Amino acid sequence: MSDSAYSGRGNKDRSIGREPAARSGDPVPAGGKARPAPEGPFLIGEAMTGGYGRGADILHSCTIAVERGEIAVIVGPNGAGKSTAMKAVFGMLNLREGAVRLDGEEITQLSPQDRVLKGMGFVPQTSNIFTSMTVEENLEMGAFIRTDDFSDTMAQVYDLFPILKEKRRQAAGELSGGQRQQVAVGRALMTKPKVLMLDEPTAGVSPIVMDELFDRIIEVARTGIPILMVEQNARQALAIADKGYVLVQGRNAHTGTGRELLEDPEVRASFLGG
Ligand SMILES: Nc1ncnc2c1ncn2[C@@H]1O[C@H](COP(=O)(O)OP(=O)(O)OP(=O)(O)O)[C@@H](O)[C@H]1O
Ligand SMILES: [Mg+2]
Repeated sequence: MSDSAYSGRGNKDRSIGREPAARSGDPVPAGGKARPAPEGPFLIGEAMTGGYGRGADILHSCTIAVERGEIAVIVGPNGAGKSTAMKAVFGMLNLREGAVRLDGEEITQLSPQDRVLKGMGFVPQTSNIFTSMTVEENLEMGAFIRTDDFSDTMAQVYDLFPILKEKRRQAAGELSGGQRQQVAVGRALMTKPKVLMLDEPTAGVSPIVMDELFDRIIEVARTGIPILMVEQNARQALAIADKGYVLVQGRNAHTGTGRELLEDPEVRASFLGG
């Protein structure tokens, strides 16, 4: 444990993440429909318009993004389309307009599975663990795309979330809300993602557990994995955000640094309780 990649805040060890891929000039992988797109943030869903199936559009030219080494936070009222925007970036929505780019490639046409292969880790808002499986089986499921030895990554996840090591033989469904979220984040980390997308990782947990989870998320970001996350605890989340997005009715209402949004009188009055 003492040689953990996570021992101590501010550790710059990147071992849980992947080496950054070369930027421009990379050949497009055989069989893939990704295209080189070297400009812009590390991950961006840009000007996304679309909805579910044949239903009305939920997103209206909505943009969310995260830069290398940063934490970006998406806030907004219930039903604003935050989860829909995350699903769109992950490829679970057919966009009528807009594009998704990751690490120098346009991936708008890729399936969610192929986006995972490209390095996207996604923890959805609901049903994000296998409750009848043990903690360790959940982590093993997370490593399903890997053909190499993932025991080091599992050790790193256990160093990050020691309680999971203690409870590794327990059914994940028996854990507390905060511990389940740790399983969900740990599962996503098992793919060695290049970017981590979290939809309300602190939903339903106490303020103390929320602080603890935020600390762990900051720790993951410091290992070099950018984080794009939706949060209902807007004030606390913006306090740790490099970039913040306020979405309202599927549109970008306010965008700025976390601090700018926290200090914006309109954002404060409308979304932060004054
Ligand atoms: N699977 C779905 N099929 C059809 N409509 C959906 C689906 N999921 C969400 N919606 C609709 O899309 C809109 C945006 O919902 P979404 O879940 O993205 O909001 P949200 O900002 O994540 O809200 P919350 O804060 O409650 O999580 C809502 O009107 C919702 O009813
Ligand atoms: Mg949601």
